[in-house]
Amino acid sequence: MIWQAEQIEKSYRHAVLSGLCLAVGENEIVGLVGESGCGKTTLARIAMRMERPDAGALLFDGRNYAEYPDRKAFYRQVQMVFQHPGEAMNSRWTVRSILEEPLRNLSEVPTVVRNERIAEALDSVHLPASLLNESPRNLSGGQAQRVNLARALICRPRFVILDEPTSALDAAVQRQILQLLRELQRGSGASFLMISHDLKALAEVADRIAVMHAGRIIEECLPGQMLRLEKLTAR
Ligand SMILES: Nc1ncnc2c1ncn2[C@@H]1O[C@H](COP(=O)(O)OP(=O)(O)OP(=O)(O)O)[C@@H](O)[C@H]1O
Ligand SMILES: [Mg+2]
Repeated sequence: MIWQAEQIEKSYRHAVLSGLCLAVGENEIVGLVGESGCGKTTLARIAMRMERPDAGALLFDGRNYAEYPDRKAFYRQVQMVFQHPGEAMNSRWTVRSILEEPLRNLSEVPTVVRNERIAEALDSVHLPASLLNESPRNLSGGQAQRVNLARALICRPRFVILDEPTSALDAAVQRQILQLLRELQRGSGASFLMISHDLKALAEVADRIAVMHAGRIIEECLPGQMLRLEKLTAR
């Protein structure tokens, strides 16, 4: 397993995560589905070390998070695409600077190689190099999400969390991004945890689906087992 959450507990004013267990394997896309407010983003933030769990253990590559004291080394390997694509990018920056930032801050990629890596990253999400000098303000929703994906993957992480990567997009663009996600996973060999409340979208890309309810995983199945899942998520 590349990533594991064991018996995670987290409360704010009320219990949000209670005894949550979930694991993601090498080269795997795991879909995480659950109704609004059930704690999906909270889990993602905990997995990204933006919040601490009250109890439980988190492991990356078989080792407890505490064994990764160097945050930069950790974030080179574990990345996230945030729920609201617009908010995730600084609109005063250009696409180039958005893509360059993780290379500059997290990686040891030499300056001379950075432009090459930026061009590769943009190409991998099928955007033209002409967008490099644009502001994210001038991008469509689909283009903005492609830039977010390129940024998350540019340091070649091994595990990527995608929080509702298609829910802000219209149906046609959603389909393209879902297809791209599968392609990017295959191309990178990274593992993805894809969060969504859209079971159909998850079933299209995930190798396995975990159903979350009231702060824990209540069921795990293969995308083919849709009927049973639909009943569970409809309750
Ligand atoms: N920082 C916080 N302080 C207080 N309560 C919070 C905080 N973050 C999340 N919560 C609460 O935790 C619960 C779960 O929120 P979370 O955002 O994780 O749900 P979600 O499953 O991602 O929902 P959605 O599908 O709408 O994105 C909600 O009741 C929310 O109000
Ligand atoms: Mg959320």
